[in-house]
Amino acid sequence: MKITQSITEYNAFRNTLEGPAAPRLAFVPTMGALHEGHRSLIKLGRSLGDVVAVSIFVNPLQFGPGEDYARYPRPLDDDLEVCEAEGVDVVLVPSVSDLYPPGRQITLDAGALGSVLEGRSRPGHFNGVLTVVLKWFNIVRPQIAILGQKDAQQLACIQRMVSDLNIPVEIVGAPIVREPDGLAISSRNVFLTATERSVARSISAALEKAATQSSVPAARAAAYEVLDRAEAEPCFQLDYATIVNPATFTEVADDHVGSATFVVAARVGDTRLIDNTIITFSPPPWS
Ligand code: PAJ
Repeated sequence: MKITQSITEYNAFRNTLEGPAAPRLAFVPTMGALHEGHRSLIKLGRSLGDVVAVSIFVNPLQFGPGEDYARYPRPLDDDLEVCEAEGVDVVLVPSVSDLYPPGRQITLDAGALGSVLEGRSRPGHFNGVLTVVLKWFNIVRPQIAILGQKDAQQLACIQRMVSDLNIPVEIVGAPIVREPDGLAISSRNVFLTATERSVARSISAALEKAATQSSVPAARAAAYEVLDRAEAEPCFQLDYATIVNPATFTEVADDHVGSATFVVAARVGDTRLIDNTIITFSPPPWS
């Protein structure tokens, strides 16, 4: 496995892949603290590409002033072991100054899609995500990029960017990997205390209940029954729980038929958690 610590070093590797029989390069962008969710993306990348590249970079541009940039976990040696074990071919671990040299001025704007829900709670977040992801696509030059459905709005923003800016990369969405009790795996779960960890379970429990319903109002009611109970716990604060169009992230109508994404965000203690599930709603009459 090749570990490249600068863009120049990666370029030297990438140039060896050019030629008439160029391999298919699958790319998994990450911020490290790799867990089973990331592993599943890498496995998918392995099955779709001939060469797999993983980036590990905690992107300062996507964190707001009061957010967890400084305390975000950075277990680089463990991460490299995970990559090695998953058969990654090349890892990119550049420094912040390599990716953002002084004098930088241009950033992307995620538009309306980037300013609702997660974007509303984290102003500028998706602009930071899109800017770094576009940089990654230009640096890595992959044919395929694998992104998790866990961050559904991020995935939608990236799909929109690729389409709006004619970026020659195929985006593949990967299913959410969960703990045995349903909690979506996240690098931020390590911040949860034992009590918070058990309360956090309500998020996926609410989504599970919602997913068995056939109408939007019934799904909403089923989820809120669980979330209202969680809100009685002092450590749990709901940010949003809403059913949206998976491409635009605008709220669907009560009589919506077809698929939609139920997205939830909550603060549990000092940790902000997000989760979602895709539900297919059937036409009335509902039982
Ligand atoms: P990070 O949070 O490290 O996530 C990297 C990728 O792993 C994302 O595509 C995310 O959706 C996916 N992922 C995280 N948890 C998952 C889970 N439980 N199941 C499936 N996939 C999961 O997302 C980012 O980093 C950054 O915003 C990034 C795209 C790298 C840009 O900086």
